[in-house]
Formats: sequence, structure tokens, C-alpha cells
Amino acid sequence: MVSPAIALAFLPLLLTLIIRYRYYFVLLYRAVLVRWVQDLVTGISREERVYQYILTHATPGDPESVLDSFDDWCNKVEFISHIGPKKGMILDRLLKEHCPLTVLELGTHCGYTAVRIARSLPIGARLFSVEMDEGNARVAEKIIRLSGFDDDAVELIVRPSDEVIPRLREDYGVERLDFVFMDHWKRCYLPDLQMLEGSGLLGEGSVILADNVIFPGAPNFLRHACRSGLYEHRVHRATLEYIRGIRDGMAELIYRGAK
Ligand SMILES: C[S@@+](CC[C@H](N)C(=O)[O-])C[C@H]1O[C@@H](n2cnc3c(N)ncnc32)[C@H](O)[C@@H]1O
Repeated sequence: MVSPAIALAFLPLLLTLIIRYRYYFVLLYRAVLVRWVQDLVTGISREERVYQYILTHATPGDPESVLDSFDDWCNKVEFISHIGPKKGMILDRLLKEHCPLTVLELGTHCGYTAVRIARSLPIGARLFSVEMDEGNARVAEKIIRLSGFDDDAVELIVRPSDEVIPRLREDYGVERLDFVFMDHWKRCYLPDLQMLEGSGLLGEGSVILADNVIFPGAPNFLRHACRSGLYEHRVHRATLEYIRGIRDGMAELIYRGAK
């Protein structure tokens, strides 16, 4: 039995930890506990739940209203790790600056960023969005089409990124990638970047934007970006989507061209 005196001695430490890490507790509660309860109560997946919400709140053919509904749901109902509006503005600005014609997205999930990217692209540009989870991809497909983007504007590829990257030229006719948005599992960032380097699809000025490089973090990827000499790079600091108080950032890499 722990004596009350010892328990009391640990109380300040416990309180300090709770205060210090309160935002991580909020994240755990929203991302895990609420999701688990809702899965039990509704009997459908979180991705289907957000789709139902968007169907009843957004205007078909209007990407802005689809994004607003996503943000409302993630702020007020349940947490989903879309990049959210604040980091989304960084993405919007970079797309505006670079005006890419061929874009690759790794990690579609429900299609939030696919819609966000597609609405910022010039006419005739193409987005290839890669998602390996079939359930997520089914929802993303419905949301992307509901937003008004056809298969020519946004092609959803349902396979793991390491199977897709080597086939982009042959199967999808891609000659050069102007912009790559990475938001899939963080352990895949570095191997996929190296695969892209080897594919010959990156050209001088190609941009790679990688989300969550601070939280959960992608240290090997950042080290390679800094040390390989292949990129000009910077980190855009921000906070984690839909949760205040957790620091995060997006890495922007600009390819200097093959050495
Ligand atoms: C953080 S979510 C993407 C969020 C999305 N970009 C957004 O902000 O709207 C990550 C997604 O990447 C997918 N994923 C993870 N690793 C992958 C891989 N190697 N290839 C394809 N998809 C992957 C997961 O199934 C998940 O749906």
C-alpha cells in the first residue's frame, strides 16, 4: 500500500505533467476515445461519418463548402488528421507561387487535401492522389467527385506509394512531377523521397512539401533534405491541425536538379 504521504509528494509532479501535456491528452481523447465510442454507437467508420456530414452540409460542386464542412466537423465533432485550415493556407500559398501542372499526393485519406489542392490548380493541371486503404479511398472518391472534380482533374490511385512511384511514367504517363505533397505514414517519407529521386521524375524546381515533420516528426527525412545537397529547404512552422498547443511544421524542399 502506498502511504498517503508518498502519494501527496507525487501530486505536484502529476499535476505538472498533466498541465504540461494537456494538449496531448486532448488529442488522445478526441482522436482515440471519441472515435472508439462513435464507432460502437454508429456502427460505421469515422470516414463514412464525415462523409454523411459533408453530404448534409456542403453544396455539391463547391469545393469551398466541402472544405468548410470538413473543418466544422473536425473542430466540433471528431478529430481527423487532415492538414486543416492553418497549414492548408501554407499549401494554398505554395501552390499559387509555383503553379504546378502535375501534382502527386501521397496519403489521400478522405480527400481533404486532394480537394484543397485541386481547387488551387490551373486549368489542365492534374493531381494524382495515392491512398492504400480501400475504405478511405472509397470515401475520398465520393468526396472528390462531390466537390466537382472529375477523373481528369484528380485521379485517385488505390495502392501503396512504393508500388505507385516506380509505375508513374509507364502507367500514368507522368514525365515530370512539379509538386509532391507527402502526408502518408512518416516512416515512408524518406524511402519514397529517395524513390522519387531515382525515378527521374523530379526536375529542377520541383517542390516537395511534407506535412507533420515536427509532430509526429520525420527526422531521417529532414536530415536527408539538409545533408544530401539536392534541395533548398525550409520548415514552415505551425501547430497540429485542429488542436491548439502542439507544435508542428511542413517541410518545403525545392529540388536543385540531378547532380
Ligand atoms: C494523415 S492521412 C492523409 C490526410 C490527407 N492528406 C489530408 O490532409 O486530407 C494519411 C493517409 O495516408 C495513407 N497512407 C499511409 N501510408 C501510405 C502509403 N505508403 N501509400 C499510400 N497511402 C498511405 C493512410 O491510409 C491514410 O489514409
